[in-house]
Amino acid sequence: MNHILEAQQFSRKDLDDLFVRTQELEEGDYTGNMLRGNILASLFYEPSTRTRFSFESAMLRLGGNVISTENAKEFSSAIKGESIEDSIRVVSHYADVIVLRHYEEGMAKRAATVATVPIINAGDGPGQHPTQALLDLYTILREKKGIDGTHIAMVGDPKHSRTIHSLCYLLANYKDIRVTFVSLPNLQAPESVKKYMNEHDIAFSEAGSLDEVVSDADVIYMTRVQKERFSSDKEYESSRGKYILTREHVDAMKNDAIVMDPLPRVDSMDFAVDESPKAVYFKQAKYGVYVRMALLTKLLGE
Ligand code: CP
Repeated sequence: MNHILEAQQFSRKDLDDLFVRTQELEEGDYTGNMLRGNILASLFYEPSTRTRFSFESAMLRLGGNVISTENAKEFSSAIKGESIEDSIRVVSHYADVIVLRHYEEGMAKRAATVATVPIINAGDGPGQHPTQALLDLYTILREKKGIDGTHIAMVGDPKHSRTIHSLCYLLANYKDIRVTFVSLPNLQAPESVKKYMNEHDIAFSEAGSLDEVVSDADVIYMTRVQKERFSSDKEYESSRGKYILTREHVDAMKNDAIVMDPLPRVDSMDFAVDESPKAVYFKQAKYGVYVRMALLTKLLGE
C-alpha cells in the first residue's frame, strides 16, 4: 500500500509521471467512473477550504464517493478521548483512502502505522503538506514551462509554513534551484529543512525585505503568518503584516515571473495584485483538483 506522508518520498521519475498524468486529466482524459465503488474519507482536525474540497471534488469527478468530517476535533469521537490510532483503525474499514489533516506534526505517520488503507497527509501542524507542494510544482511547470533553474522567493512564514517545507524537499529533485527565504528573524525556515537543502545542493539564502528579491525571482511564493502556530498573541501581532506584496512589487518583477500563494491569503498581498497576469494563485488552487485526481488514480488504480 502507498501512503503519501512526506515530500521526500517522491523521486524525479515519480514527479514526471505524476505531472504527465495530471496534464492528461486537466485536458479531460478521464471518465466519471474510473474510481466507481471507491470511498474517500476526509478526516480534518484543522480547518480547510482548498485541500478538503479539492480532494472531494477529485474523487467525485472520478466516480468515487466521499465521507467527510470537516471538524474532526469536535465532531468525531476525538472529543470523547478516542486516540488517532483507534479512529484510523475504524475508518480504514469504512473507506478505501483516508485524507488526514491534523494540528500535530507527525500525526499522518502515526496514522499510517495502523491504517489498512492509504493515508494521505493533508497537512500535519507545522510539519508538511506534500500534496500542496505537488500542486505548487505543477503550477510552476504549467506557468513557467519548466522547474530546473528557477529562483523562488518564499515569503512570510518559512518557520511554520508546511507548504514551504514540503516544497523545499520536492525541489531537491530539480537542477539549479535557488531559494530565497524572506522573513523576520523569528520566522526563518527550520534547521531540518535547511540541512536537507544543503545535503541536496539547493542553493538558499535569507533576506529581510521583498525589495531584495522582486526583480530577480522567477516565482514569488507568498505565505501568511500562521496565527495558530504562535504560543502568544503578542508575538503573532508583532510578526504579522510585515511582508505585503503590492502591485508596485509585481510590476517590478520580471515579465515572465509569477506570484503564487497556497492561500488563504491574510496580510500577504494587496488585492490589486489580482489584476496582474503574473498572479496565478487561483489557477494554482484549480490545478490542485487535477493533481489530486492523479494521486487518487495512482493510489486506487483506475
Ligand atoms: N492551501 C491549503 O492548504 O488551503 P486550505 O487550508 O484551505 O486547505
